[in-house]
Amino acid sequence: MNYAISIKGLTKKFDDFTAVDNLSFDIPKGKIFGFLGPNGSGKSTTIRMICGVLKPTFGEGKVLGYDLIKDTEKIKQNIGYMSQKFSLYEDLTVEENLEFYGNIYMLPKKLLEKRKIELIEMANLKGKEKNLAGTLSGGWKQRLALGCSLIHNPSLLILDEPTAGVDPVSRREFWHTITELVKGGITVLVTTHYMDEASICDIIGFIYNSKLITINTPENLYKEHNTKNLEEVFINYVKRFSNRQIISSFNDLKVSD
Ligand SMILES: Nc1ncnc2c1ncn2[C@@H]1O[C@H](COP(=O)(O)OP(=O)(O)O)[C@@H](O)[C@H]1O
Ligand SMILES: [Mg+2]
Repeated sequence: MNYAISIKGLTKKFDDFTAVDNLSFDIPKGKIFGFLGPNGSGKSTTIRMICGVLKPTFGEGKVLGYDLIKDTEKIKQNIGYMSQKFSLYEDLTVEENLEFYGNIYMLPKKLLEKRKIELIEMANLKGKEKNLAGTLSGGWKQRLALGCSLIHNPSLLILDEPTAGVDPVSRREFWHTITELVKGGITVLVTTHYMDEASICDIIGFIYNSKLITINTPENLYKEHNTKNLEEVFINYVKRFSNRQIISSFNDLKVSD
């Protein structure tokens, strides 16, 4: 099968601390993969390795068919990445931010103009083209950041806590956009602490203390644990793997209505 992401034994050590321990998974193209876990469990470190910006200590993998160790430039050119921090230039306008990212990917002028129009529409930013990014509210900034991450038409989109600190209405709109993108064939890897968002994903991976504890569809997890509540599923797993830290580890796994 042609996977968007396929990793085997991926491990990252910082001195003698293992931040990511022997992770293996395959994500088929065109799916939404929700990568969940408490703060500090190793999600962003895994993502950095998948994006080709951090060299694994051990392990191997392919992203969009490119080798994680050897083809990092190709990987970077073909994925879109957006983080919680939104990496926008606050003193550039909406349009200028899109142009800036388009220039990084060296899009020809004509194509950049076309993408700008498409993405302003997708992000519902019409009429705000000339506004400075710094003056936009959280939900608008989030949509602009998403637009910037898509400027080069990537086939894999990686979102690291894209909805943290964003209001519920904007979160809902954001997820609507994500599901529309997936219908268009893109693959998405997303981390979130919101269980309502996790339940939208096609596949959920749960990482705890640097190890992948489970990877399955939400439906199979519900069935296996006899509950419709994902938080309960993960508490069950944590209980199984450790008798401590359940409350403190799950403080940041919010359930929203
Ligand atoms: N560059 C680094 N040097 C040392 N430790 C790091 C580095 N990056 C991350 N870590 C540690 O690795 C662990 C996992 O971090 P991270 O992947 O950011 O977790 P998450 O994204 O799940 O919150 C944390 O304990 C963090 O402090
Ligand atoms: Mg993180």
